[in-house]
Amino acid sequence: MKILVTGGAGFIGSNFVYYMLEKHPDYDIVCIDALTYAGNLSTLKTALENPKFKFVKGSIADRELVFELFENEKFDIVVNFAAESHVDRSIENPEIFLKTNILGTQVLMDACRKYGIQRYHQVSTDEVYGDLPLDRPDLFFTEETPIHTSSPYSASKASADLLVMAYHRTFGLPVTISRCSNNYGPYHFPEKLIPLMIANALNDKPLPVYGKGENVRDWLYVEDHCSAIDLIIHNGRVGEVYNIGGHNEMANIDVVKLVLKELGKSEELITYVTDRAGHDRRYAIDPTKIHSELGWLPATKFADGIKKTVQWYLDNKSWWEEIISGEYQNYYEKMYSNR
Ligand code: NAD
Ligand code: DAU
Repeated sequence: MKILVTGGAGFIGSNFVYYMLEKHPDYDIVCIDALTYAGNLSTLKTALENPKFKFVKGSIADRELVFELFENEKFDIVVNFAAESHVDRSIENPEIFLKTNILGTQVLMDACRKYGIQRYHQVSTDEVYGDLPLDRPDLFFTEETPIHTSSPYSASKASADLLVMAYHRTFGLPVTISRCSNNYGPYHFPEKLIPLMIANALNDKPLPVYGKGENVRDWLYVEDHCSAIDLIIHNGRVGEVYNIGGHNEMANIDVVKLVLKELGKSEELITYVTDRAGHDRRYAIDPTKIHSELGWLPATKFADGIKKTVQWYLDNKSWWEEIISGEYQNYYEKMYSNR
């Protein structure tokens, strides 16, 4: 079995590469990644020592390169993680989100059609469903919830999902889609809530909480997302969408306070800043379908996962310190100074 993992130098893609190399040591894994600001080859250092793993630098939107890769490698399965993934950046500059997330997906599926594959899997997000009110804890996103996006990022992911389904219906491409809730864990890029708060707290810098910190996210340990995708690509039904989430909803402020507690830092570091435009209030996944059809359940409880994550950032300071010392400083300045 040969699997193409796109975006494998990013947060979830790299965790998936390591998960698959360990779980299926007989599989060949090829990763294509453009190494944007979010991609980091040092993340794949250990994988690169494994003869069953190969890395190719390039964009999924580069048709010529992608077609050549498919012709040479003859993939059985394609798992598309490659994306621009940060909501705040999509508010600043939507265009690249449309290019990578929509047109890149199209290029990959065109290559799948031409060269043939057993499965094309699109890694999507719960953000395609929009948000839920804070005062209706009885409501959850199911696979039947209408698409109703808020940000340029989520609109680009939803567009890609629609295109994936169109390629299935029109061309018979064997596709699946997964829509997961917020992930956390090792190699999470420091622009995102949990690693940003860990890095700032360790540097005794203010922790910028948007609005009142009341927005709710449904956190899942990244390895549980990987195990769900592994099940879907092997046993999921073609043409189906699977929601992935572990019923772990928390208000942002509670997540931030927990991070501070784990690090033994003062809550005085918390600073409330101007809210994100169009800020989704609450995400909450109903994972009944993947549980009942594929037997998937998350293995890591948030209390344990957050401890492991904080410890990982303490043990791997050089990984994130290098990131936040470079171009990231300009990003941080632009997004957070005078906010
Ligand atoms: P990330 O930003 O950490 O990583 C994205 C990776 O894609 C990077 O390595 C980057 O270099 C690469 N990339 C970007 N543009 C590319 C291009 N044109 N060609 C090839 N590679 C390119 O993102 P992530 O958090 O790991 O998210 C991975 C996927 O999972 C995305 O599709 C995202 O929408 C989805 N998702 C993320 C979460 C989450 O909580 N992080 C939850 C649900 C779904
Ligand atoms: O739900 C899945 C989505 O989760 C993925 O599709 C996205 O790729 C991923 O980035 C994530 O999106 P969010 O916008 O939920 O994640 P983020 O870490 O950016 O923010 C989480 C919450 O924390 C959100 O309510 C905004 C808030 N926040 C974020 C940052 C970066 C803050 O209060 N302060 C911050 O500095």
